[in-house]
Amino acid sequence: MGMNMVSIILKKKAGEVLTTEEIRFVAQGAAKNTLPPEQLSAWLMAVCWRGMDDRETADLTLAMAYSGDVVDLSAIPGVCVDKHSTGGVGDTTTLVLVPLVAACGAPVAKMSGRALGHTGGTLDKLESIPGMRIYLDQAAFIDQVRRVGCAVVGQTQSLAPADKLLYALRDVTGTVDSLPLIASSIVSKKLAAGSGAIVLDVKTGNGALMPTLDASVALARAMVRIGKLAGKPTLALVTGMEEPLGSHVGNALEVKEAIDILAGRAAGPLLRVSLALGSQMLVAAGKAADLVQAEILLQKALASGAGLAKLRDMIAAQGGDPRVTEDVSLLPRARHLSPVPAERDGYVDHMDTVAIGRAAQLLGAGRETKEQAIDTAVGLVMHKRIGEAVAKGEPVATLHANDPALARQAAAVLARAVTIGGAQTAPPPLIHAIIMPDTEEYFT
Ligand code: URA
Ligand code: CA
Repeated sequence: MGMNMVSIILKKKAGEVLTTEEIRFVAQGAAKNTLPPEQLSAWLMAVCWRGMDDRETADLTLAMAYSGDVVDLSAIPGVCVDKHSTGGVGDTTTLVLVPLVAACGAPVAKMSGRALGHTGGTLDKLESIPGMRIYLDQAAFIDQVRRVGCAVVGQTQSLAPADKLLYALRDVTGTVDSLPLIASSIVSKKLAAGSGAIVLDVKTGNGALMPTLDASVALARAMVRIGKLAGKPTLALVTGMEEPLGSHVGNALEVKEAIDILAGRAAGPLLRVSLALGSQMLVAAGKAADLVQAEILLQKALASGAGLAKLRDMIAAQGGDPRVTEDVSLLPRARHLSPVPAERDGYVDHMDTVAIGRAAQLLGAGRETKEQAIDTAVGLVMHKRIGEAVAKGEPVATLHANDPALARQAAAVLARAVTIGGAQTAPPPLIHAIIMPDTEEYFT
């Protein structure tokens, strides 16, 4: 069709705006392997430097979303609402909110990802449950959502293949940190996953993809604008990641914490963010008139045990041992528990959240490359949050390890990651903003 990749690269390199056809040509070339990686990489670098406007970003998102299969959820009655987090440490909101939202009558057909780098992934957490299947074929996936109300599975190979290749190239060409590339990458997969509405959780803080509030808000706005241009109701919460969200970091440990919350034995920031996101999902699904009513419904599902029962049913439907929801000791457990003592009296005033994620990764809870195996039993439990008092020698965390040598290394990383000062600081804000297409609300 007379489309020439070198001229598209030159055009973007000169800072010009690409046409819809040109962007489709690039995405198709990535999906069908008809463009060589060096040309795609050069194009990615040009986009990194020159950027893309809203129309170009939406065009790339749609082209990537439709570069492979788009999941057809139309056989599921009601509006399926998807949720996506940009990733964090101790960020187990999916396992808390999916069963709660489903228990309130909103179907959730969710595709999740794996752990990478310092952040956790829902699929690895679910795989810590004995017997749990995370790859279902389309028919079984849809049937489960119809019967149980929710399913959380891995994304199929054929979902957004253009993003798959471009993301892999970005990883090795220093072109990950481009706002339009990140926004289009995330939203393309959400559009291909087929839900009727999208609730985004954009993390901000030292453990987040975007560390500053300005950058996080910019990412949230970009994704919400794409959703609007794609005709998909989309909103974003910007939430804090200045410390692990839950106290547990590691796969089986995070499943345990989600069960403890659904059983009413635990609460705190992980529950608060889960309720905030879940409320938006219920409203988007038309199951609540407003956020106040939505939160009341979620609190009822929590108090009645309906949320925990929904998690049990979802686990059973996916071949997992549902008894874990009554007896968390059935989850894999690490052999060695070692406390990390505070080095002085005072108050926790800062956490290096990436380092805490790295400590868990070092123990075997995470992976550096996609191929690496993980140990679902290991991780760590934080005993303190920012602003809390500690006494010298008191444990700030407990490591759950299977290898004592790794535990010693992780203890050193963790001790450095938690700063104790003489004055009490306020806990970091949890919900910073709600970004919608036409309105924005700020709370900090
Ligand atoms: N997550 C994604 O899926 N894509 C990005 O580009 C960054 C984070
Ligand atoms: Ca995640």
